[in-house]
Amino acid sequence: MEEQLRAQLASAALVFQINDDLLAGYHNAIVWLGDLHTWCKESLTCLKVIEFEGPILHNKYYTTAAKTSIDLHLYELFEQDGLPKETKRLPQTEEYLMPNVEFDGIWESLVFDTDCKSDLIWKVANMERAMQRSNNPNRKKDRIILLYGPSGTGKSSLCQAVAQKISIRFTARYSVTKLIEIATATLLSKYFSESAKIVEEIFKYLARTCRDNPDEFYAVVINEVESVTMSRHKGLMQGESQDTLRATNALLTGLDRLKCSPNIIVLCTSNMMECMDAAFLSRCCTTFAINPPARASKYAILRDQLQKLIDEDNITHTQEIPLFEGAIEQQIAGDDKSGRRLLDIVDLIQAITQNSVGGRENSARFLSRLPEEAIELFLRQEECTLEMTYTFMERLLRAGQDNALDTDDSWGYEKVDERNVVTKDDELLSTEVRLKGGNKRKRFRVTINGDVFEAHEELSKYLANISKRSRK
Ligand SMILES: Nc1ncnc2c1ncn2[C@@H]1O[C@H](COP(=O)(O)OP(=O)(O)OP(=O)(O)O)[C@@H](O)[C@H]1O
Ligand SMILES: [Mg+2]
Repeated sequence: MEEQLRAQLASAALVFQINDDLLAGYHNAIVWLGDLHTWCKESLTCLKVIEFEGPILHNKYYTTAAKTSIDLHLYELFEQDGLPKETKRLPQTEEYLMPNVEFDGIWESLVFDTDCKSDLIWKVANMERAMQRSNNPNRKKDRIILLYGPSGTGKSSLCQAVAQKISIRFTARYSVTKLIEIATATLLSKYFSESAKIVEEIFKYLARTCRDNPDEFYAVVINEVESVTMSRHKGLMQGESQDTLRATNALLTGLDRLKCSPNIIVLCTSNMMECMDAAFLSRCCTTFAINPPARASKYAILRDQLQKLIDEDNITHTQEIPLFEGAIEQQIAGDDKSGRRLLDIVDLIQAITQNSVGGRENSARFLSRLPEEAIELFLRQEECTLEMTYTFMERLLRAGQDNALDTDDSWGYEKVDERNVVTKDDELLSTEVRLKGGNKRKRFRVTINGDVFEAHEELSKYLANISKRSRK
């Protein structure tokens, strides 16, 4: 049946968007699937195109009208962790049989400005392919990928999503794919010298498991990896305990143990790239920067969440909110329609966050919760329309700004990304610039090398002076 379905899909001229369910629309589904329509309806939950290499038809629509080769994967999701009860597990790890219902839909929900999703999955697939093709059992390769970036940008979710996707892609080659998440927080044991032992145990277990089960694939995820890969040099300077340093050493040795195993990949996440041990970084075969969403991605994240609330009947609205491109058209035309209103909210967020790279409104985590939180906070009746949701979101965003103003005395520090300070001057790049501010849009205080600047104009003058000095 699989072969027939592949042939049918390759011959039908599909017009689709990525992640659209081809079974959803009755008329199109019949045209596309022909005689297989009934079987598909009865046997499959959904049928989606996840990735497409080829030209865009129009506005994110693709077509298979030209000669297309189809890579088809049929799969079933495991419930809970999917493991038999008697499975022996390490206490510091969570294991799941993949693909798992727990991670269903994460891949589709993640929005990034770059192609990091497909780059990452291809990177993993190509590395595995190269290891498998090589007949040399002693072929060694570091298979550690590091995702780094500010909090709430989707690093941990992306690791889970990639593990889910590779498990689907690898079904023909591996009988089982497991996701093993290592709880880094529990690695640093309160018992002196225990940490290094625990780390060593975990990696010995992983190396043994890979060797004993060559037909299984393991995706290992280590979140907040900096807690065990803190620079040993910096650690010593800051009086870090010998235990932590030993744990870092154990991790490096442990990672080296995995070099010969073709059936494992280690995905690490961190938001503290700057304090990472050099020896660990040199073992990472690739690093991916995961940045806060830019304007179009912010729009897409909010739109997805709103659309979800509409589908669940939590918001009463009958039409689809347009994609970003449609919203831009509405904004240019001066229409007061749903896309333009949402774009205005995105622009409000952009304005709020323009002076703070790490501001919470800039994080995808905040955006993905904004519509629901705004409704929960402000709704006072049974029905909630889309227009009401927009008003609530604006109110919540403005309330956030006002609260920041009110807490003058408890101003927090935020490190400013020097790239935003617009200079190539070496002196400045090596200088720590700190913003001290409540409402970062209205006023802030900056400390550079001990000099305090109260307002934006003064800071600009200071920077101009530095630039002049460096040009002389
Ligand atoms: N790029 C994104 N697109 C859509 N939603 C996102 C994205 N990033 C994060 N989210 C939402 O925020 C939640 C938290 O994301 P996640 O924990 O993966 O971030 P993180 O980068 O690992 O953060 P931290 O550094 O704090 O661990 C996700 O479950 C998802 O709902
Ligand atoms: Mg995380």
